[in-house]
Amino acid sequence: MIKKGIILAGGKGTRMSPLTKAVNKQLLPIYDKPLIFYPLSILMLAKIKDILIIVNKGQLDQYKKILPNGNNLGIKISYLEQNEPRGLPDAFVIGEKFIGKENVAMILGDNFFYGQSLSKLLLKNTKLKNGARVVLHKVLKPESFGVAKTNNQNKIIKIKEKPKKFFSNLAITGLYFFDNNVVKYAKKLKPSARGEVEIVDLLNFYKSKNQLYADLIGRGGAWLDTGSMDDFYKTSTFVSSIENQQGLKIACLEEIAFNNKWINRSHLKQSMKFYGNCDYSKYLSKLL
Ligand code: DAU
Repeated sequence: MIKKGIILAGGKGTRMSPLTKAVNKQLLPIYDKPLIFYPLSILMLAKIKDILIIVNKGQLDQYKKILPNGNNLGIKISYLEQNEPRGLPDAFVIGEKFIGKENVAMILGDNFFYGQSLSKLLLKNTKLKNGARVVLHKVLKPESFGVAKTNNQNKIIKIKEKPKKFFSNLAITGLYFFDNNVVKYAKKLKPSARGEVEIVDLLNFYKSKNQLYADLIGRGGAWLDTGSMDDFYKTSTFVSSIENQQGLKIACLEEIAFNNKWINRSHLKQSMKFYGNCDYSKYLSKLL
């Protein structure tokens, strides 16, 4: 069982400047809550309680104001800083001590997932013992993402980061499950032409050993990468439509923790006090 998860929430956020000059992208709002709540909710739905958030150097205080240590959610949140955006696999070098001898999940801080069969998929993936698992989703513009081609057994036969030439419309989403070798492999990587270590190079280690597996989020599920300003607003609109139609919140962390029986009613009351008089607190009061 994977019990540890990393949220990679650094990056310069240059594509969203000037919004990101003073505030980290993952703390900006997606409709009614900070972006970071969404990837965190995914790890919590995967029943992962030990979470490392990697943030940009100098931005720790911002994060701790909203997610201090996880006590209010019945989980453990720890933080480490990344000095500069050296690439996604750097998370496993920074997080080596946190990972220890265990397997680990990683989600990118700007990734949004939603859909009925999601929890099932997450719980299946946390059962990983050996190898690596990625989650794929069909997209119209694969050239903006890491891309995978699969055979009919959902086995990955080719992967490439932001390919200029089309070979598949399946994007590799920013949610990964790795065995403990990930630390060793991440340390071996050399930066690519753009000066970063690349997640596809890391995945290729597993592929070359025949240990890279994939799951597909089908049409009933949504995956959105909130990388650009437009994507940010699209995701906000999506969340607002669903929440206002159903009266149910997406990524209400306390609700997930409460349903998982990680917190009780008094924790909920404490959270309401913490957030103050707002819609989010009113929603928590309904759970009571
Ligand atoms: O969203 C899925 C895509 O994410 C994948 O399909 C690609 O294979 C993967 O490379 C990545 O592509 P992006 O171009 O979206 O990555 P980006 O540089 O935008 O970084 C994603 C998040 O990770 C973002 O929230 C910033 C954070 N980050 C990124 C880097 C490179 C860090 O915290 N540290 C880093 O060193």
